[in-house]
Amino acid sequence: MLFASLGWKVHGLDNNMRADFFGAGGDTRWNLARLVQEHRSFTHHEIDIRDRRAVLDLIRRVKPTAIVHCAAQPSHDLAASRPFDDFDVNAGGTLALLEAARQHAPEAPFVHMSTNKVYGDAPNDISLVETETRWDYADARYVNGIDESFRIDRSKHSIFGASKVAADVMAQEYGRYFGMPVCCLRGGCLTGPNHAGVELHGFLSYLVRCNLEGRTYRIFGYKGKQVRDNIHSADVGEFINRFIAAPRVAEVYNIGGGKENSVSILEAFKIAEAISAKPMRFEYDDRARSGDHICYYSDLTKMKMHYPGWSITKSVHDTMAEISEAWLIRVAR
Ligand SMILES: NC(=O)c1ccc[n+]([C@@H]2O[C@H](COP(=O)([O-])OP(=O)(O)OC[C@H]3O[C@@H](n4cnc5c(N)ncnc54)[C@H](O)[C@@H]3O)[C@@H](O)[C@H]2O)c1
Repeated sequence: MLFASLGWKVHGLDNNMRADFFGAGGDTRWNLARLVQEHRSFTHHEIDIRDRRAVLDLIRRVKPTAIVHCAAQPSHDLAASRPFDDFDVNAGGTLALLEAARQHAPEAPFVHMSTNKVYGDAPNDISLVETETRWDYADARYVNGIDESFRIDRSKHSIFGASKVAADVMAQEYGRYFGMPVCCLRGGCLTGPNHAGVELHGFLSYLVRCNLEGRTYRIFGYKGKQVRDNIHSADVGEFINRFIAAPRVAEVYNIGGGKENSVSILEAFKIAEAISAKPMRFEYDDRARSGDHICYYSDLTKMKMHYPGWSITKSVHDTMAEISEAWLIRVAR
């Protein structure tokens, strides 16, 4: 864990609701056990982020120097079947943490993990070209990807995207209204060796696992040419580290792998096959996921301008190789 290795005392708040959302495949207990074993400076708090009193009490007691808010219900598809849980965790949980921070740690830089789904399906209005393996932007304005000025309303978000919009706008408001050093990181695909990918969430992690285990990966629509930009958690962590060192008020950043780390599903299959030397099994379902992006990659210009020296250090290939190695170790246990 980056922050523990930098000498921070880290307090983690999580109730393993990912297992409740996604079943055994989403269980994160193995990761908690790893963190506790590897980092003496890590303390776990079994708290439901919807429990306002418990969150307030924790922030009052710990008085954190910085807060990184990652707890969420992260899937489009799941939100549609559990809209109350989705909204209560994503919007209500974010408000609980922001308000606790305002009351007990207002100076602490607060990083809110938002998502590119706050743009809804508006990116699908951009004109595209189709190549043999992917969709890409035909409009020269998006040659470097989508930046933070892109509109967030008048589009279909999915229930999940809408709850994340509520959280994103509320986080910005605690910055603008109360002057707190809050930023929203609107993520593309964030991943790494410790991601517990499942079909409904965790694209590369799940795809690599399917390849390794000979499982059939199901493509939903767009010919498998839909494009995602992928960023390794280490690069996300490094950006957060820089924001904490030099925070700004009410900022928004599109954080992803950018154009250089963008892949379509078909392209990701090829990389997975090259890493494992195993064929990728897949089936095709013509029905695209509602609200899914056909092509999305982040324009990283603003991040690099505000935090010179930060850049992507892990390629998609390296990230997938690390994920592959981690799955093999986990499965062998
Ligand atoms: N992984 C991605 O590709 C991606 C992309 C864009 C944005 N994000 C955002 O980044 C953040 C982290 O995503 P992730 O991929 O690590 O998701 P994740 O599901 O792996 O992690 C979320 C964690 O929150 C915990 N949690 C859920 N409900 C909780 C509750 N009520 N109380 C306490 N803890 C709870 C879960 O147990 C889980 O450990 C989320 O806000 C997500 O929307 C992720």
